[in-house]
Amino acid sequence: MAYETVIVETRGNVGLITLNRPQALNALNSTVLKELKQAYAAFHTDEAVGAIVLTGSERAFAAGADIKEMQPLAFADIYKSDFISGWDEVAKARKPVIAAVSGFALGGGCELAMMCDFIIASETAKFGQPEITLGVIPGMGGSQRLTRAVGKAKAMDLILTGRMMDAAEAERSGLVSRVVAPDRLLDEAFAAAEKIASLSQPSVLMAKEAVNRAFETTLEEGLRFERRLFHSLFATDDQKEGMAAFVEKRKPAFRHR
Ligand code: CAA
Repeated sequence: MAYETVIVETRGNVGLITLNRPQALNALNSTVLKELKQAYAAFHTDEAVGAIVLTGSERAFAAGADIKEMQPLAFADIYKSDFISGWDEVAKARKPVIAAVSGFALGGGCELAMMCDFIIASETAKFGQPEITLGVIPGMGGSQRLTRAVGKAKAMDLILTGRMMDAAEAERSGLVSRVVAPDRLLDEAFAAAEKIASLSQPSVLMAKEAVNRAFETTLEEGLRFERRLFHSLFATDDQKEGMAAFVEKRKPAFRHR
């Protein structure tokens, strides 16, 4: 498939998507959204792909939704078309997605990184929700996902002032899982993705579902949901293989079923 704004590759069992609008610091326009959805769909139907890495350039993961595309829009139009709602599909990717973030991850860029399952950041990364400086507010989930990730105080600080936070502050706040040297970013993200892809796919997908459920429900319902998924994994060949391999002191050979 030919893409205009993203580069899509498969390396072993890992799918790699690189945002590629350097002239606009990877600003997210409607073409990026359309192509990201296509790339995700292709990886989801490719049985060999077990995890996805989403990255940008050294200078910018993405500097936000495309301001030039949004500037002329009127309330009635964006309300009627439910502008931006298409990103929900990106956030609902079933296979694990790791964001490898270098440089600016601002506005929609920060929100896109937060739609991923976890974020590995380069020491150069800068996160922020500067929409308030444009006379709007975050629209791709920032007020909700950032608050869940870093808590009310930090989220209010970032969203009300529009300031950026560096990678160290983002790691301290719990927004990113690891910070690495810039030249290690992709290797580190790939190593994590390869590890995930080597594991039993049903258990990986269920682990992701279970963690995400923690943000949607009560503790009691979440615990019940987790326990039912745990029970159901005993119906898989991979549970038999994984536990037999442990007992027999050998490496498991998962068949993803
Ligand atoms: N949309 C469209 N174009 C953008 C862009 C964006 N979000 N961010 C950067 N660009 C463009 C610039 O207009 C510029 O293009 P030209 O060369 O044609 O003028 C090019 O990318 C390079 O940017 P700068 O010259 O501004 O680079 P810089 O190094 O001086 O500054 C920056 C970098 C601080 C990231 C600055 O570009 C910036 O502030 N960008 C906007 C950040 C922002 O406000 N993001 C939120 C967008 S709104 C949003 O995301 C809403 C939502 O939640 C859905």
